[in-house]
Formats: sequence, structure tokens, C-alpha cells
Amino acid sequence: MGGSVLRRPPFFSHSPRFSMTHHFDFLVVGTGIAGLSYAVKASQFGTVAVVTKKEKAESNTNYAQGGVAAVMSKVDSFEMHVRDTLSTGVGLSHEDAVRIMVQEGPERLRDLIAIGAKFTYKDGALDLGREGGHSTNRIVHAHDLTGHEIERALLAAVAAAPTIQMFENHVALELITEHHLVSRRSVDSSRVHCWGAYVLDSHARLVETFLAPVVLLATGGLGQVYLHTTNPPIATGDGVAMAYRAGAKIGNMEFIQFHPTTLFNSGSPSFLISEAVRGFGAILRTRNGEEFMHAYDPRKELAPRDIVAYAIDTELKRRGDEYVLLDLRHLSPDAVREHFPYIYSTCLTKFKLDITAEPIPVVPAAHYSCGGVVTDIDGRTNVDGLYAAGEVSMTGVHGANRLASNSLLEALVFSDRALRTSIAGRETLTAEVPEVAPWDDSGTLNSEEWILIAHNRREIQEIMWDYVGIVRSDLRLGRALRRLELIQKEVEDFYKRTKVTEGLIELRNIGLCAMLVIKCAMQRKESRGLHVTTDYRNRNDAEFLHDTILP
Ligand code: SIN
Repeated sequence: MGGSVLRRPPFFSHSPRFSMTHHFDFLVVGTGIAGLSYAVKASQFGTVAVVTKKEKAESNTNYAQGGVAAVMSKVDSFEMHVRDTLSTGVGLSHEDAVRIMVQEGPERLRDLIAIGAKFTYKDGALDLGREGGHSTNRIVHAHDLTGHEIERALLAAVAAAPTIQMFENHVALELITEHHLVSRRSVDSSRVHCWGAYVLDSHARLVETFLAPVVLLATGGLGQVYLHTTNPPIATGDGVAMAYRAGAKIGNMEFIQFHPTTLFNSGSPSFLISEAVRGFGAILRTRNGEEFMHAYDPRKELAPRDIVAYAIDTELKRRGDEYVLLDLRHLSPDAVREHFPYIYSTCLTKFKLDITAEPIPVVPAAHYSCGGVVTDIDGRTNVDGLYAAGEVSMTGVHGANRLASNSLLEALVFSDRALRTSIAGRETLTAEVPEVAPWDDSGTLNSEEWILIAHNRREIQEIMWDYVGIVRSDLRLGRALRRLELIQKEVEDFYKRTKVTEGLIELRNIGLCAMLVIKCAMQRKESRGLHVTTDYRNRNDAEFLHDTILP
């Protein structure tokens, strides 16, 4: 396994000084829903390498509780789902991308069911849950462990596909572009092209070269840029950072979604209390028991996330409280246990909290990046050969705020379109991969300064949490940027002198992503969706009804 059926340049196979070079038809970076569903389909057309930093099931998808929003009932319609998505995106969602996602969504969901994903049914039909911003019940779910079930089904399909090779504990660290060619003579210098990636085998501590004419970035999100996040430790923005360094356009990074309800003081990552719980009727209260959502939006608990997170943040600051309460005590305990078995049992066993008998202390935490690597409606980036899908991408669907449970749907639909596009242009697959220089770390040292990495990571996360959180200001953004520029310069110096490790790669990416969030936020001098600033309190369509694109 592992050899390309289409082309194999005769160089650098096993040099004793340099590490191995792998040739595949497709390189997929990341093992969430976007990467795995792409890999399963791509495996019919050639050889596929899937690289992932940790074990294959470790991804943001795996932690998704809520579900997949899709039009699957007679009382729902494409038009309603489109309207809800556009309205939640506060003017910035691209309508063409939204329509595609909504219309192709049900078919993509059926693809998942066909490979064995088991969703929750009631009376012979899919049991559709409700979440904020949706005008009807449309969340397909597997109890409260939807992402876990999708990962299980996709990994089983991957295991059954003989042309897929999975590389666990392999950290992609840099995309291979013109800079890495032995000679640039044969390439069109007016365009940037991607031919693969340098990847650290973190067990062997060797950087290997993965070459493929089609590369899909599906690395997920960047929640670890913030101190409090629902994302697992792997969510360090690697795809956005690598793509930016390679010359890809990055957009809308100011729109970081804070999930309104994570269990207070539950550690890292923060334990998510799914939005589906509010959809089921849970009520938000201040610590002294008062309801407050009616003061912010007529939809109350079922307003979109930007509004609910802002409301909670405002109440916490106004009252000097550390958390608000999510109250389920008026709901049937049996129904709560049946619908949310994972949340119920985790709260009970791990946090000694019976959610049917006591209100849940909750706070918002960083959850999802609406921006990312800019793609067209077929998952193509501005770098030839490079596609992106899932949270790492910015397809235009989410605009200034993502509608709950649209993320898994977006990943399914656009990874499928990316595959179809790369297959349609089959000549890309047969194109010669030019001669690429192997990774050369001669002159660098092994360093024992790991405390610097841990300290810098924490410092970035604290700066971002304190200054670039739910409510921002010019002063805070400027202060954050100055500090981050200093840290990032130190990190880059360290990176140049030191042999790469997973921790160093992640730190470099977190630092860069943090700067991209701030740079986008500084350009948007208005408040819209997830970007709220005290200096420009209103939405300003005359000047800012457009994406923020970093070249
Ligand atoms: C949740 O269950 O609340 C998270 C799902 C999502 O982010 O869409």
C-alpha cells in the first residue's frame, strides 16, 4: 500500500539522511467528518493518504453532541432552512452556498445512513430535534452523541477501503508549494500550487514528504486559541495557519462563535451542554433564579448563539457573577435521561450533578470558527490543487454567525463537491508532481525548553480570552496584537533554531491564527453577529456588508 497508481517521480525514496517520501493520488489532512467522508469517496478513484495528529477518532466531529441540520420532514422546506441560515448569518452568508448546502444536505445525510450511521428514530421516522435559530425541528441526531456515531460509521468505512492508508500521530506542518521545489523552471509562476505536505511522524520524530496532486485540508477548528473552549486540545488551527503561509486567502476570522452553555469549571476542554437541551425546553436563569433571555430576543432561549452568548456575557458582567444557570427541573426526568444520556451521565458521574434535580451552572466558551480558508462552492481554494472542507474552510455559508448544527452538514456537502470537482478535472490527477526538496533540518537543535512552549501557549490563550472574546474594543484589540506580535516573533525564532515537535508546530499555528483573528476583527469597524465591539455598537451595512479577506 501507499504507492500512487498514476505517477511516481523517481527521486528521494529512502535517503538515509532524509526521511521518506510518499506518493498518493489524494492527500487528506484531518479525520473529522469532512476528511473521512471525502477519503471514503475518493478511495474509488485512486490511492488516499489520510494523516492525523493523534488517533484517528480524535477530531472536533467526535465531540459534536447536537446533530446535523437537514430538511427531512414534510412540515419543513428548503426555503425555511435557507431563510433561517441567512438570517442567523446577519447579512454575510453567501446565498448561493447556503442554497447548495440546504438542497444537497438530505442526500449527503442519506450517504451517511447508507454506510451505517445510526441516528435516533421515533415512530419509524428520524427524530428531529430543535436548536436556536431554527424555525422548526430539523436536527438529525444520535441521542446526544451524534458526532461520535458519525465518526464510528466513517472509520468503519475507511477500514473497509483498501486504497486508503491512515497515518496516525502524523502532524502536517507545511504545505508544499513552489518554494519547496528543487527547480521552479517547469512551473507556472503566476499561480501558487500545492503538491502535498511535510508531515512530522511524531513517534519517529522524522519529517516525511507526502506528495499528491490533490490535497484536501480538513483539519477542523481553532478553539485552542482561547483559554476556554469546547474543542479538544488538537483544535489548534493548523489548516488555516498552513494555508495562510502557503498563500491561500483567509476570511472572516473575526467571527468566532462562543457556545452559550458549557459547564462552569469543567476543565479543559469545557464540557458542552448541547444547544439541543435548550431546544428541549431548558430555561436560562441568573444565579438568583431570574429568567433573562426575554430581555434580549423574543425567541428567548432559542435565539441564535451570538445573541444568547452575548446575553449571558452581559448578565455576568452586570451582576459580577461567574456563571448563569440552565434549568431543566421542570422537564420530565425520564425524558431528559432518554434524550441526553451522555450529558446526564457525565454530569452525574464526573461532576456529581444530577441535571434533573439541580440547575446546571454554565458559561460561554469558544466553540467554532465561522471564517477560515476561503473556498468557492466546490471546495477549491485560490491555491491550485488545494481544497478545504469543514470548519477549516470559509465557504460563505455561515456569514457572521453559524446556525446551530449547520457545521456537520456543511462539511458533508462541500467535501463531496470538492471530491467531485477534483475528479472531474482528472487531468489534475495525472499531472506530474515536480521534484520537491525533502525536509532539511540540518543546523537545528533538539531543545529542552518545553516550558517555553507551554507558557507561550497559555499566554496566547489568556490574551485572546481577555481581549478578543465576546465583546471587543479597539483598545483591547490593539493591546492583544502588540503582545501577540512579540510572542510570535519569539516563536518563529525558536522554530528556526529547533527540531520541530508537535507542541512547537501547534504553538506556531495558534499564535498565527490568533493574529489572523485580531487582524480581521480590527478591520471590521461595526458590530455584527459574533463580532461585537464597544467602539462601533451598530451594524453598518453601508461600509461593511462584505467578507473580511486577508490576502
Ligand atoms: C451543540 O450540540 O450545541 C453543538 C452543535 C453545534 O455546534 O452545532
